[in-house]
Amino acid sequence: MTKDRVLIFDTTLRDGEQSPGATMTHDEKLEIAEMLDDMGVDVIEAGFPIASEGDFRAVSEIAQRSKNSTICGLARANFKDIDRCAEAIKDAGSGRIHTFIGTSPLHRAIPNLTMDEMADKIHETVSHARNLCDNVQWSPMDATRTEWDYLCRVIEIAIKAGATTINIPDTVGYTAPAESADLIKRLIETVPGADDVIFATHCHNDLGMATANALAAVAGGARQIECTVNGLGERAGNTALEEVVMALKVRNDIMPFSTGIDTTKIMNISRRVATASGFPVQFNKAIVGKNAFAHESGIHQDGMLKNAETFEIMRPEDVGLAGTSLPLGKHSGRAALRAKLDTLGYTMADNQLNDLFVRFKDLADRKKEVFDDDIVALIRQNDTVE
Ligand code: KIV
Ligand code: ZN
Repeated sequence: MTKDRVLIFDTTLRDGEQSPGATMTHDEKLEIAEMLDDMGVDVIEAGFPIASEGDFRAVSEIAQRSKNSTICGLARANFKDIDRCAEAIKDAGSGRIHTFIGTSPLHRAIPNLTMDEMADKIHETVSHARNLCDNVQWSPMDATRTEWDYLCRVIEIAIKAGATTINIPDTVGYTAPAESADLIKRLIETVPGADDVIFATHCHNDLGMATANALAAVAGGARQIECTVNGLGERAGNTALEEVVMALKVRNDIMPFSTGIDTTKIMNISRRVATASGFPVQFNKAIVGKNAFAHESGIHQDGMLKNAETFEIMRPEDVGLAGTSLPLGKHSGRAALRAKLDTLGYTMADNQLNDLFVRFKDLADRKKEVFDDDIVALIRQNDTVE
């Protein structure tokens, strides 16, 4: 792998599905996994095999069907979870076990382990996973609230025990971009063996900074971003796949990293995940929201009609949309109305357009959006067609 290649690890089917109310059916999971595989996702975290019989079956079938992606299952730090996970991914062309334990003081208190006891457990469980699979990811859950010295110590243990990817989760979305970059950079500089593994970033969006934190982590040296389609995930969600992928594409001048994602497949998978999870995408969501490539105000519409770069920093076709939309509303101007008439096949003299424009504005003041049928009705009312 080149130094500027960033792996995309999608956890829509695991962390995403943990979103309350986002449960997907078995067939929906298989379909989404196929789409992820097809669009160039490097690693698909397909589920948590010990969690239920259904999760086991989904991970196992996705492992059997995947053509390109590595298929990963999640396991807590115990042999039973890890064995079940290894069983689920055994038929994958390329499989990965992802095992984790909460390392911050708050999380260490739950199993009531001392720092030394937890360190021993990490060594035992990562070694066990590595005996079953040569691709092992280890995560210190709540890493961003774990004491620095202890974090370095446990990462070193996990690397020595055979972990090949070290994931640094910001489990509660607590970190800020500058800290995120600095943390990864210092870990890579400090922990013995860090150069032999890939560092990953896994950010939650509690403060709305998940995408910024993930990109900052890449600047600090992370080479795997964990993310979900539409940013689905626990509480406020995870880093959104479409956001990091398009940010790296559009701002490649300042973030010179590439992914293997075919971005023209983004819109389709976004819609499929929205319907399968029952979580609609907010209108103004970056990249995939209904309004992400829509312009209503007169100044913007006029600019867009002259040169699309005036108000769009990426082409809608690059994310799989047919084109920009210029919905007509009360902020729209004559240029957009004229363009709409062109697409509807009407030609008008300037005075006729002026008359129609007045009546259109009157209607737009009473209606959120003026549709094609409304325009045709306005034209017919006054028989203004030439
Ligand atoms: O947010 C988190 O810490 C996780 C871990 C299981 C990696 O999802
Ligand atoms: Zn998470």
